[in-house]
Amino acid sequence: MDIREKYSKYILGTYAPAVFFEKGEGSYLWDDNGKKYLDFASGISVCNIGHSHPKVAKAIADQAQKLLHVSNLYMTENAPLLAEKISKAGFNGKVFFCNSGAEANEGLIKFARKWGSDKSRHEIICMNDSFHGRTLAALAATGRAKYREGFGPDLEGFVHVDYGDLEAVRNAISDKTAAVMLEPVLGEGGVRPAAVEFIQGVRQLCDEAGILMMCDEVQTGIGRTGKMFAHQHFGIEPDAMSLAKALGNGMPIGALMLQCKHEGILVPGTHATTFGGTPLACAAGLAVFEAYDEENVLENCQKQGQKAFEFLKALGEKYDFVSEVRGLGLMIGIDVEIPTGDVLKKAFDKGLILLTAGEKTIRLLPTLNLSDTELQEGLEIIEKTFEELNNV
Ligand SMILES: Cc1ncc(COP(=O)(O)O)c(C=O)c1O
Repeated sequence: MDIREKYSKYILGTYAPAVFFEKGEGSYLWDDNGKKYLDFASGISVCNIGHSHPKVAKAIADQAQKLLHVSNLYMTENAPLLAEKISKAGFNGKVFFCNSGAEANEGLIKFARKWGSDKSRHEIICMNDSFHGRTLAALAATGRAKYREGFGPDLEGFVHVDYGDLEAVRNAISDKTAAVMLEPVLGEGGVRPAAVEFIQGVRQLCDEAGILMMCDEVQTGIGRTGKMFAHQHFGIEPDAMSLAKALGNGMPIGALMLQCKHEGILVPGTHATTFGGTPLACAAGLAVFEAYDEENVLENCQKQGQKAFEFLKALGEKYDFVSEVRGLGLMIGIDVEIPTGDVLKKAFDKGLILLTAGEKTIRLLPTLNLSDTELQEGLEIIEKTFEELNNV
């Protein structure tokens, strides 16, 4: 039985992958036939500093020889060191480590409910088209009903409004509201950066109503948009944020950070997870932060993001089927009026991996430390792909 047969025989069919990857290095992947691909998906914004980053790989290997796990009944070195990095790069808050984006968002939701429990406030206002993960509370927060189909009844206590509609947020706030929760840039929902007025307006509304503002930075966090956390583009601080994906550059790790003023809400016994903040996962996270400093990753992301955006904007103007190009840093969306699958397939055949988002958006999430040559290579493949699709 070859590996594909074993995959379909033994792996539950929740995914439908067609390609088998064997190796990754930097911005490139190789399939089992030895074909090389430029990866503009980065494992869906996980391997932000490239596949098998040497620093991360070494940190994992060294830590694996020393100590893997002891549980949170005991202190270990790497968790507080990584929490310090996150705290100092962000709003100087306090960190809880977990394992995934959905779990980090569950933590945010529990935090908001616990905060509101003595005020009879439990509702969370979320955004239409948002995505917060596949666990039941994260699904209830997610603003795309199709993900919830068949998994009802929905968890109670979530209200949805249109992303960007400040009046709708204002009208949705009631004496039951505990928090507003949003992605600073809608990721799965179509790569839609929020307007500054919207994010600042939500912050103000939350302050006026005395409720929490929470940012899901699972996809946008750890530099994807050119700042360590996307809310930093908007000159505000949330009460809490969730992280995961790129925090371990491939090592599974999630986190949430609360403002210090809220540290009394989640006290011993209220929230926990066996694998949260293991020495191994946090060793990877620490290596990520060191690599960002050493390689000027945020600056590169801003520079390459700007170049990519300008190139794609100009390209979009050439083709009628491109209706919009949007982005922040190296999180870029191209809306097309042709099937997104056709674009992905053609680019893939030429050795470029792209993603979709929403119904009609091509999503680019390249590595943040990619070189001029790598960026140029990817953009030229997109250009060629569009040219060919225009001629069919
Ligand atoms: C904004 C956002 N939140 C949460 C999640 C869920 O993260 P995970 O798949 O690690 O549970 C995702 C995943 O794509 C995401 O993009």
